[in-house]
Amino acid sequence: MNKSPDNHIRPPNLVFIDTSRPAVDETREVQASLGDQRPSLSPKFFYDSRGSELFEAITELPEYYLTRAEAQIFEQQLEDIITTLGPVDVVIEPGGGSCSKVRVLLNPMQPRAFVAIDIAGDFLQQAASEVARDWPELEVTAIAADFTRSWDFTDALPAGRRLVFYPGSTLGNFDPEAQASFLGQLASVAGSDGGILLGVDLHKDSSVLHAAYNDASGLTAAFNRNMLNVVNARTGADFRPDEWQHEARYNPTRRRIEMDLIASTRQAVTVGGREFIFESGDAIRTEHSCKFTLDDLQQLAASAQMALSHHWLDSRGLFCLALLEPA
Ligand SMILES: C[S@@+](CC[C@H](N)C(=O)[O-])C[C@H]1O[C@@H](n2cnc3c(N)ncnc32)[C@H](O)[C@@H]1O
Repeated sequence: MNKSPDNHIRPPNLVFIDTSRPAVDETREVQASLGDQRPSLSPKFFYDSRGSELFEAITELPEYYLTRAEAQIFEQQLEDIITTLGPVDVVIEPGGGSCSKVRVLLNPMQPRAFVAIDIAGDFLQQAASEVARDWPELEVTAIAADFTRSWDFTDALPAGRRLVFYPGSTLGNFDPEAQASFLGQLASVAGSDGGILLGVDLHKDSSVLHAAYNDASGLTAAFNRNMLNVVNARTGADFRPDEWQHEARYNPTRRRIEMDLIASTRQAVTVGGREFIFESGDAIRTEHSCKFTLDDLQQLAASAQMALSHHWLDSRGLFCLALLEPA
């Protein structure tokens, strides 16, 4: 049997592929985005093992309705979802994280193979091992990769009718143009007989959204600040996370949560030998979380040569599970 880096026995039905990029690429990327007129860091830097654990804890918060609303759709409408999807050979989950959501699909759908792709490689490998152990007949592939950079692992994906499973409203972290091109990428992975099962958060009252991203226990603030630890570890930068404050606001015009880190003191930060000066009150944008209407989804699907063929809502109409199929 193979052993994973943390020395656990790797189940025989799990293949782990690591496509991690050289750190120098990420250093340049961070320098470029911090050097913008409006400094930002990509939300992918939220996720090391600690960030993934914090995210899982956020999904349990009373204010964070998204995960519960999505789970309710599966609980109450699973039979219809499975019938509508039809036979599936391969489930592919970009941003699989804890791989917890796919579990509900595996027994009724009985795919031959499951592929999870995530930037947090260690966390993914652990989660995929658990899936492989619980479904010993399933071919499980875990791919540590940055899906915003390259899909050069596509040839390694198993053949058959494919379902790309992209829950959790992670698509909303992209800006609208990038959403369309990412969906185009997912559509080409799904193929002409496959589909994309997409979970997206819907536009709603600002106070509900504000509470979801400003929880009373401060977990979202810790998650936001942890990004600076991740950037330090991946690029050798010297951010001092304690000197940055969490801020998240809903922008109703752009229909998105805008999350920032605000410098609480004047500070100099060095990334790969380049110095960045932040005055007290300066902001680094860390996340957009776009909220959707059904019209948005239809247009987005069309931009990726897909059609919104079915959708399911939770009982309060907070969240939408959408099936996109080739137009
Ligand atoms: C919002 S979480 C969603 C996790 C899970 N799919 C869910 O629905 O609960 C986003 C996931 O995408 C992963 N992720 C974010 N950016 C990524 C990137 N550029 N490449 C690969 N994975 C990424 C994160 O590590 C995390 O597991």
